[in-house]
Amino acid sequence: DNLDGRVAVITGGASGIGRAMAEAMIAQGMQVLIADIEPGQLDRTAADIGAASMVVDVTSADQVSALAAAALDRFGTVDVLCNNAGIGPMAPLAGLTLNDWRWMIDVNLWGVIHGITAFLPVLRANPRGGHIVNTASMAGLMPVPGLVPYCASKYAVIGLSEAMAEDLAVEGSDIGVSILCPGPVRSNLGTSTRNRPAHLAGALTDVQLEDSVQFEDQPVNWLSAEDTAQLVIAAIRENRRYVITHPDMLEPVEARHRAIERSFQTDLQG
Ligand code: NAI
Repeated sequence: DNLDGRVAVITGGASGIGRAMAEAMIAQGMQVLIADIEPGQLDRTAADIGAASMVVDVTSADQVSALAAAALDRFGTVDVLCNNAGIGPMAPLAGLTLNDWRWMIDVNLWGVIHGITAFLPVLRANPRGGHIVNTASMAGLMPVPGLVPYCASKYAVIGLSEAMAEDLAVEGSDIGVSILCPGPVRSNLGTSTRNRPAHLAGALTDVQLEDSVQFEDQPVNWLSAEDTAQLVIAAIRENRRYVITHPDMLEPVEARHRAIERSFQTDLQG
């Protein structure tokens, strides 16, 4: 599938994985609009990589609608939507407050919901079809201590994406769906609280992955955002559902699946 000349909109595009996806897509000849809540970083990135940009808070349905309108206005169509904006702060279960849950779900889940609500009509109107990439996480495929709200948001993004893909298939739509499930990728996710609204202050804090319970007994196997972006480009071309950056993390995912499968065994049913 030739991406040359196609149009992509990427949320969380100022930094990290979003920025790298934008850069990789521009290198494929695509026209890219990046959206982000951080105006300064957004301007710098847009200028550096040659993307269009718009300041957008994905927790606002109105702002994400305005993003879709701006993309149509500027490019006439959208071919690829990357719902990528996200936050990754941590806190032990015991300290969590409702503000923590609210901030996490607002950005990581409602951000994606706002994206598909505003952009599905635009993609449906595109005679070439289209593609949606939702950024979930390896923490959407396995439970991680210290990341309860984050896991909840990312499991939800995976469920949303899988069921959405089923519905699109039933409709006979040619809109593809890919779910990006990164393991540790070098980015600014470790300073997520820089974007927390003051009224949602709570227990969530920035913890370096090296210092988290998950990586107590093993080194963190960092991947670059650029390598991650290349996997996404390939997944869009080949219309692949899951984008896995860390094949070495299969074991805990397998263990979870095995536990679920064991619970289906008929000899265990009363
Ligand atoms: P990053 O912090 O470098 O980039 C995230 C971008 O999202 C930032 O530019 C930030 O300003 C923006 N953002 C935050 N809140 C926003 C809001 N309300 N509205 C609009 N933009 C907002 O972090 P990274 O790692 O590039 O994160 C991208 C996605 O990748 C996130 O969804 C994250 O959960 C996911 N991810 C990252 C992993 C990693 O190891 N870096 C691992 C698994 C998933």
